[in-house]
Amino acid sequence: MAIRNIRQYGDSVLEKRCKEVTEMTPRTIDLINDMIETMYEGNGVGLAACQVGILKRIVVIDTTGEDLHILINPRIVEQSGEQTGSEGCLSLPGKSGIVTRPNYVKCVALNEKMEPIELEGTELLARAICHELDHLDGHMYVEKVQGELSEVSYDEDGEEA
Ligand code: NI
Repeated sequence: MAIRNIRQYGDSVLEKRCKEVTEMTPRTIDLINDMIETMYEGNGVGLAACQVGILKRIVVIDTTGEDLHILINPRIVEQSGEQTGSEGCLSLPGKSGIVTRPNYVKCVALNEKMEPIELEGTELLARAICHELDHLDGHMYVEKVQGELSEVSYDEDGEEA
């Protein structure tokens, strides 16, 4: 596994639509493992393949540190409610903004064995699913921010203060 370079806001790869994954290959398994490592190393709760420069419909999400989800070709099939809160992105470090998202979403996807799975989430998990799926269509949360982006301050351990 390896840490990959995270593409930063303004990079045109983040504005492109990612392509469906049609078969699982050793290269794609390597990509998924690298995405997981890169997400954890960056203290992120999710990462989309385009953020490491690969235009495939793959996201990894872990909102608690012990709840890893690998979603291939994910699609939201149900959503309800509303939540408004702070959001950030590994492609725009040091910034956050207020975004309104559904409070509940259900998505269907494939896992790393290309088997169909469902994932339901509320609150932060619902937010992460929406945020990451937007990346697959070339969208970033900054397009949805209410008001201005804020600076995030970090303490000496690099955690959000
Ligand atoms: Ni992001």
